[in-house]
Amino acid sequence: MSDKIELITIGIVVGSIRKESLNKKLASAVIKLAPPGIIFKNIKIDDLPLYNQDDEQNQAGPVTRLKEEIKTSSGILFVTPEYNRSIPGVLKNAIDLGSRPYKANVWSKKPAGIIGISSGAIGTALAQQHLRNILVFLNMPVLAQPEVFIQAREGLFDDQGGIGPGSRAFLQSWMDQYIDWIKKHIQE
Ligand code: FNR
Repeated sequence: MSDKIELITIGIVVGSIRKESLNKKLASAVIKLAPPGIIFKNIKIDDLPLYNQDDEQNQAGPVTRLKEEIKTSSGILFVTPEYNRSIPGVLKNAIDLGSRPYKANVWSKKPAGIIGISSGAIGTALAQQHLRNILVFLNMPVLAQPEVFIQAREGLFDDQGGIGPGSRAFLQSWMDQYIDWIKKHIQE
């Protein structure tokens, strides 16, 4: 039996582009809970042009790069805030860009998970529900449970930028189930 670990690459899409984003911090902290063999790469969305159907046959460099990064990921992790009870426009723009031209949707069949943190008490629940609708339409198998709705509070992150003790066991359990989900749904 080989003891070689098979490497799996997961693309992370964060729905906030601000420097001090809590969702960026959550993404960095949660990936520390992944088992060996999982490589996370950040998928950049802050330099993408606004989606315009007129550009479909002549796509800008950042759009081509986005598509390549999605294609070369075995799965996707969305980490998003809630904006006005939905997902931020920058995230929807990235999703739309990857979904077109018609019949060239690069998100299709990529297994996905969604987590998020916000200042509000519902911890991105409505944004996640909207995102789920979109991803299912794009033919992505999306992990249903456990749901991860996090309200920003003191002690969530530890001094090393990891998940603090209060939420670690819960997020570890989420990570274990998320990775199982990705492995089950990877397309060869
Ligand atoms: C928000 N925020 C917010 N929070 C929430 O729980 N529900 C919401 O509907 C909204 N709506 C909303 C709209 C806009 C335009 C902004 C800028 C903010 C607050 C939001 O949770 C908070 O700013 C987070 O810190 C944003 O995530 P990042 O940027 O820290 O990752």
